[in-house]
Amino acid sequence: MEITIRPRRLRTDPVRRALVRETRINKSALILPLFIREGKGIQEDIPSLEGQKRYSPDLLPYALETVIKAGIKNILLFGIPLTKDGVGSGAYAENGVVQQAVRAAKKNFPEISVITDVCLCEYTDHGHCGLLKGDTVDNDATLPLLAQTALSHVEAGADIVAPSDMMDGRVNVIRQVLDRAGFTDKAIMSYAVKYASAFYGPFREAAGSAPAFGDRKSYQMDYHNGREAVKEAGLDIAEGADILMVKPALSYLDVVSDLKARFHLPLAAYSVSGEYAMIKAAARAGLIDEAAMVCETAASVFRAGADILITYYALEIAQFIDEGR
Ligand code: PBG
Ligand code: ZN
Repeated sequence: MEITIRPRRLRTDPVRRALVRETRINKSALILPLFIREGKGIQEDIPSLEGQKRYSPDLLPYALETVIKAGIKNILLFGIPLTKDGVGSGAYAENGVVQQAVRAAKKNFPEISVITDVCLCEYTDHGHCGLLKGDTVDNDATLPLLAQTALSHVEAGADIVAPSDMMDGRVNVIRQVLDRAGFTDKAIMSYAVKYASAFYGPFREAAGSAPAFGDRKSYQMDYHNGREAVKEAGLDIAEGADILMVKPALSYLDVVSDLKARFHLPLAAYSVSGEYAMIKAAARAGLIDEAAMVCETAASVFRAGADILITYYALEIAQFIDEGR
C-alpha cells in the first residue's frame, strides 16, 4: 500500500510544528497567586512551595514589579492574618491584610487586575471555611460574612472577587451586596467546581489554614463525581458568576472539557499547590525536566478547554513564552 496521508509531514521542523499548533498559551490568560502576610517588611520563603514567597502588604509592590516585567497582568491574593478567631473577622476587616494588600497593589500598579480569594478558612481559629454550629459548617450563617468580605475587598479596590468557600448560594449574596453598593462592574470568578482534594496540602501549610478538626468534605465536592460539576456550575451561572473555575486542574481535565462544551462562560482552571509541589519535588530529585513539565502540563489544561490558568508557575511560563518554547 502506498502511503499518501502522512501526519509526520506536520512535524518536520519547529516552524511548521508551531504553525499547526492547536493550543497557544498567552500571558494574558495567566493568573499568579500570591500570599500576603500581615505585618511589615516581610518577604519570606514558603517551605512547602519552593520558589514562592509570602510578602507583607508594604513589600507587595516590589514583588509586583517583577510580575509586571514578566508581562503577567492578573494576580490572585490570599491573606494570612496576625490573629484568628471563631468568626474570621480578619477576612472582612476594613484594614485586614488582603484589604491592605489590594490598596498597595492598586496604588502602585493600577493597571494590574487584582483578584481576591474570598473565604474564611485563613481567618478562623478552627480553619474551616465558614461559621461553625457545633461541629458542622453553617451554610446560611456564613453567607453574610462572605458577602461582607467580598464587599470589603472591592471597597479596597479589588477588580474581581473569587469565592472559594463552597457554601451554597454565596455567589447570589455576593452579587446582591456588591450591586447594592454600586459595584456592578466588579466581577465574580467563582470557584464553582472545587473538589475536596489532597492537592491543597502545601497551600494549607503556606497559609496556615488546615482545618483544626475533620475535613472539608461536607462542603467541597467528592472527587468521584463529574456530573455534579455541571450542577454546581449551572447554579453559579444562575446566581451571577462571570467566570467559572475548576479546581484542582490536572486530575480534573475531564471536568474542564465537559464544562467548556456545555457552558459559555470564561473557564478558569486552578493548578493548585500540590500540582506545583509535585513538579518541584520531582525536579529536585532529578527525575524530570522541570521546564518541560511545566510547559506540557500548562498546555494540557488549555487543550482541555480552559481559557484561563491560575498557576504558581505563571512567571516561569511567561519566560518560556518569551523564549518561544
Ligand atoms: C481557601 C482556598 C484553598 C485553596 C484556594 N483557596 C485551600 C482549601 O480549600 O483548603 C487551595 C489553593 C492551592 O492548593 O493552591 N478555601
Ligand atoms: Zn476556605
